[in-house]
Amino acid sequence: MASSQQERMIALINGTPPVDFTRSIDPSAVRGKTAIVTGGASGIGRGIAEELAVNGAKVAILDITEEAGQNVVSGLKDKGHEALFVKTDVASWEAQLEAFKAALKWSSSGLDIVVAAAGVKSTDMRDSIVPASDSSEPPKPHTAVLDINFTGVWWTTNLALFYFNKFHASTPSTSFKPQILLISSLAGYAASPFDADYGAAKHGVRGLWKAIRAPDDSMAQYQANLLAPGWTHTGMTDAYIHKYIERGARVASVADNVRAAMRLLVDQEVSARAVCVAGSPEGVRDGEKRSGVFDVGDDMGTLGSGRVFLEKLGEGVFDHYLG
Ligand SMILES: NC(=O)c1ccc[n+]([C@@H]2O[C@H](COP(=O)([O-])OP(=O)(O)OC[C@H]3O[C@@H](n4cnc5c(N)ncnc54)[C@H](O)[C@@H]3O)[C@@H](O)[C@H]2O)c1
Repeated sequence: MASSQQERMIALINGTPPVDFTRSIDPSAVRGKTAIVTGGASGIGRGIAEELAVNGAKVAILDITEEAGQNVVSGLKDKGHEALFVKTDVASWEAQLEAFKAALKWSSSGLDIVVAAAGVKSTDMRDSIVPASDSSEPPKPHTAVLDINFTGVWWTTNLALFYFNKFHASTPSTSFKPQILLISSLAGYAASPFDADYGAAKHGVRGLWKAIRAPDDSMAQYQANLLAPGWTHTGMTDAYIHKYIERGARVASVADNVRAAMRLLVDQEVSARAVCVAGSPEGVRDGEKRSGVFDVGDDMGTLGSGRVFLEKLGEGVFDHYLG
């Protein structure tokens, strides 16, 4: 039996009730807000950056891929939207700090939204743990995936919360609350065998989100949510996703992920929630039975995500998922 103090703590950490996907949202709530999107040159990050800019936010894209990032920004500016590209390696603290400062100088109106979408695909751990011959020395394992997909998100989160506390300490609770959206993955709930760096990093991002999802009374009252995409056709998966599709796997689109991300960023009734976007046998629809978009129920004090994933398995959401 939980004490009332434990119950209060659990309620604080669990945030708002599970996402109600039927409630309408107003994307124009981001008008005039300053947003930073890492990994905004491609795929899911690009989709979110463009949607924010089209709805009136001032969007700074921090990405390592300069040409693609500049093209996204030119495309937005040509249509009259406000956007900036800052070439950034998210794995470097110094680079991210300078990029945040450049973005804040450009917008000159504080910081309201941060989306941590930069990421790279996994390596295969077996390449470094299976000796090539009896005389082989252990090779030093790669850490790039951990450096970008976890440490990079750690830097982004620290910067976001620092500037939220700097700019929003006295923002009235009725105003648009600053938003941080971390991007984990289904691999943050069930890692693929030996895609160990990716699975560890995505579990790490989920753990980081759990630790920061409830601001305490001494802080700016930000909202922190988590997006957990399943297979999505983007630059990251382009080289191999057709193999899974040929075998019957269902994939989500960037637009499916952007729709879910916008709900998490704009719906002020949604805080400290995690949402999965998986391609489902009947296509992706928000919040309906058998749809691929659902609140993961990643709560403290309940069976949480395990129960929800089992329910979704029973509903057939993951039929053909592995192909
Ligand atoms: N595509 C999927 O199936 C899938 C599934 C689950 C989670 N995700 C996650 O979604 C996020 C977006 O991935 P995506 O599928 O859109 O891939 P993507 O390759 O299309 O986009 C990733 C972006 O991150 C940028 N990036 C990579 N390394 C960087 C670095 N060191 N510094 C700055 N930018 C860097 C890339 O240049 C690229 O623009 C990632 O975190 C990824 O792990 C993707």
